[in-house]
Amino acid sequence: MLTTTRFSRAQSFLSAVWESGVRLAGGAARRWRRCHAAFVIALLLPGMAPAASADASMPHLAPRHGAIQLIVDGQPFLMRAGELENSSASSLPYLDTLWSKFEAMHFNAVIAPVYWNLIEPQQGRFDFSTVDGLIKGARAHDMRLVLLWFGSWKNSMSSYLPAWVKRDASRYPRARRSDGTPMEILSALDAANVQADSAAFVALMKHLKQTDGEQHTVVMVQVENEVGMIPEARDHGPLADAAFHAPVPQALTDYLSEHRERLAPQLAAAWRAHGFRTGAKWEDTFGAGEQTDELFTAWTEARYTGQVAAAGKAVYPLPMYANAALIRPGKRPGEYPSGGPLPHLFDVWRAAAPAIDFLAPDIYFPNFTEWAEKYALPGRPFLIPETGRVSGAQMAANGLYAYAHLNAMGYSPYAPEFLSPDYAKALGQAYDLIDQLTPLILAHQGSGKMVGMLPRTHFDGSVDLSPQTFVFGDYKVTASFRKPGSASIGAKLDADTSTTHGGLIIQTGPDDFWFAGTGITVYFEPVGKGRSAVGIESIWEGRFINGQWVPGREMNGDDTNQGRHLSLPDDEFSIRRVTLYRYH
Ligand code: DGJ
Repeated sequence: MLTTTRFSRAQSFLSAVWESGVRLAGGAARRWRRCHAAFVIALLLPGMAPAASADASMPHLAPRHGAIQLIVDGQPFLMRAGELENSSASSLPYLDTLWSKFEAMHFNAVIAPVYWNLIEPQQGRFDFSTVDGLIKGARAHDMRLVLLWFGSWKNSMSSYLPAWVKRDASRYPRARRSDGTPMEILSALDAANVQADSAAFVALMKHLKQTDGEQHTVVMVQVENEVGMIPEARDHGPLADAAFHAPVPQALTDYLSEHRERLAPQLAAAWRAHGFRTGAKWEDTFGAGEQTDELFTAWTEARYTGQVAAAGKAVYPLPMYANAALIRPGKRPGEYPSGGPLPHLFDVWRAAAPAIDFLAPDIYFPNFTEWAEKYALPGRPFLIPETGRVSGAQMAANGLYAYAHLNAMGYSPYAPEFLSPDYAKALGQAYDLIDQLTPLILAHQGSGKMVGMLPRTHFDGSVDLSPQTFVFGDYKVTASFRKPGSASIGAKLDADTSTTHGGLIIQTGPDDFWFAGTGITVYFEPVGKGRSAVGIESIWEGRFINGQWVPGREMNGDDTNQGRHLSLPDDEFSIRRVTLYRYH
């Protein structure tokens, strides 16, 4: 039985797809229409929708058809990145050993940490040698950088503080557990903490402006890393307790009132249960318990992060984002880094940190699609700054889906320097393919004429191999993740295979398509009634070399099961140029 794939909501209103573009069957079409409505709403949302950059020569975020793209030196830039393992950027000789690996994997960008403790070893005395070396290395290998500000938070801890901050807890107070024990986490409530962090971040941004303001090797900055609170859902230090027992700040309730119809369900329900109160204490506004403790943490830590970002942007306004550690099923606030930029807290983050342009997921769980869809929202920028813990080939296939289906501006497996040769090869093949297709992908993001094909994987690792169907004008296109039984021996059942599946489709003319990916068999049918049928005019393998398509073999005969289907072979990432026709 055919199933209709869930379609990205982040598609274009402006492309007027009803007339000409991809349409989906059944319920997906209704979702699609709702999505367009949601997109219009999103454009009107304040905060975190990308603002037009004051200086268009700066790297900035801009809408194209409704997808949000990163613009670098006037051109959209699709990031094929990897995020350095945490310690790799602390030694330039070590870093120098990595660039050739990244080149072999077809990276055009690296996401790399800047460590507060290394750049400000003494208060007010800065040493940017690691940053300068990083930029020099990236330039020498023709790569751009996204910098990670490892300031007050790194995976919800404060382990990258300079020693002069670490050792002076009376001046730079820590968050406390409910029994009063201090934790190695700066309190988000203390002005000295946010001032010290902001001062260092401002110095970094000033330095970038001075040394990279023309060349724009650094194109974006992540502010802090996986902000959140664990093992309790909130800070119980004296400042935090006082703020928790004071009224909820008006800036938050004003934002929530303004967006009341569109709040995250959990937050809306908690607030509704208390009559949408304003001017009251946290527990009297949202109820007593860990959920409200987490809202408080989200507000205080997002405010802090937003203040740091705003201070940095005031001197050098690169696009800035915050990343989230995701939640395992069944975990409660306090059992995961609570208060981070998670879907149920998006409203609080948007209210608290308008200088943060967008929120991004670190996807390490197998249910990649489910988490990605929560962040790839209409009119919002989408980047996956970290991903991993799946096979290299699956990680690569997930990337194709992110760029094509979810309009990602970038994709970035974590610790690529430690990928096994097999995994590195798969990622390199997929990035090579993305490199070749980049002009087509950028031109079609949000156009409604590009989709991704990816079986949904659940949290327990089980994979839904149901076929996925898309409609492009006159053609219904079905992606099957099973192998067809051979017609020549009369086999009737499609076979499951243990290979990786994933890819993309771009329609460039009424009958003209590009397919790319791995482990997929594609069938074509006519749309509409009548006795017409669809035939394959031609399928070519090939490569784009310097932007020109250079065909290889024409794929036919056994390679198309005598004209019955298109095959994207297992165990490699390949491109196919396909022309279809209708006949009666
Ligand atoms: C998420 C963090 O953001 C990274 O810095 C790194 O610690 C990875 N987890 C490790 O899995």
